[in-house]
Amino acid sequence: MIEKSPTLDWLDAAARAREAAGVHREIHARTSDSPVIDLASNDYLGLARHPEVIAGAKAALDEWGAGATGSRLVTGTTTLHETLEAELADFCGHESALLFSSGYMANIGAVTALSGRGSLVVSDGGAHASLIDACRLSRARVVATPRGNVAAVRRALAERSEERAVVLTDSVYSIDGALAPVAELHDVARAHHAVLVVDEAHGLGVRGRGGRGLVDELGRAGHEDLVVTATLSKALATQGGVVCASQRVRAQLTDTARSFIFDTALTPAAVGAAQAALNVLRREPDRPARVLRAATALAEVADAEQPESAVVSVILSDPQRAVAAQKAALRRGVAVGCFRPPSVPEGTSRLRLTARANLEGAELDTAVEVLRAVVAEYSKEEK
Ligand SMILES: Cc1ncc(COP(=O)(O)O)c(C=O)c1O
Repeated sequence: MIEKSPTLDWLDAAARAREAAGVHREIHARTSDSPVIDLASNDYLGLARHPEVIAGAKAALDEWGAGATGSRLVTGTTTLHETLEAELADFCGHESALLFSSGYMANIGAVTALSGRGSLVVSDGGAHASLIDACRLSRARVVATPRGNVAAVRRALAERSEERAVVLTDSVYSIDGALAPVAELHDVARAHHAVLVVDEAHGLGVRGRGGRGLVDELGRAGHEDLVVTATLSKALATQGGVVCASQRVRAQLTDTARSFIFDTALTPAAVGAAQAALNVLRREPDRPARVLRAATALAEVADAEQPESAVVSVILSDPQRAVAAQKAALRRGVAVGCFRPPSVPEGTSRLRLTARANLEGAELDTAVEVLRAVVAEYSKEEK
């Protein structure tokens, strides 16, 4: 038993407040043989258990051992890391790439290395928490603009006194899977001599030619003033992050991004798995279309808008109702995500469904049937 300290008694009141507000969170451990249908993970291409991906991880483990053994600038960079960087840069259409230990760290690194004191960071209202945290660490002046509001970004850039500016956005908003106005933001950023950083966490493997991402789809890959970040933990089914950029941007990150310099390098098994996942994607470029097909089937059930990505959002407004609906779906064998404040604005608590390339046939039919019943039951109470 732990000896409790009165110094931390305030935690009880804080926990009670979260409980009352319906924003208490629970950790649920999966079992490896769970029969539950997964509509909650980010395994968009269905590759997390793909034999080639597992073999890629195992081969790296056998060759390099269990860990990277150090940070990237000391012992952590293996030839495997270098190969994957070259492959990711080539796939996404950029001059170079730099691996990080997570997408979170990639965002922190890209933003802090490109901004800093005396610069301006304009952050789109839909940007992921990791970009928001990057703003906090940047020491720049930060302007948060409403989600998808290009005019507000233009204004912030035009009115600035700082010479350097960086604009931040997700390509596919993580909350509801809608697309950000990336081309328009790039045009505005360019007109005002600012760099656009686009987080392709939910775009890679889902949008663009053969899953090359939304930036590729818009013909904007390879422009030096558009830097792409991504995670290897969603479509690429493993762990890790990457920044795709020009050589000189990469050099700036290598020298100054603290989340690159002071962090142990990505473990070789994750690098091997990502490389294998990328191989599968290159060989099977229809996987992204299969994700969108499954997403469309899920959206129809939930009466949601036509999905533009793997993510389908079903708004149930009230956090308690959203949690109850999530539990009801799970009791019927379907795991879905549930977003509540502060992850989403008050009054927009929701179920978040994610599609997978391998969600098809009987599994998709069952998922659709369960969701139809749950959504009908839990949206009814609203009236
Ligand atoms: C848009 C977005 N960016 C970044 C991340 C962070 O990536 P990682 O999990 O690899 O740290 C996530 C989710 O995890 C995300 O949804």
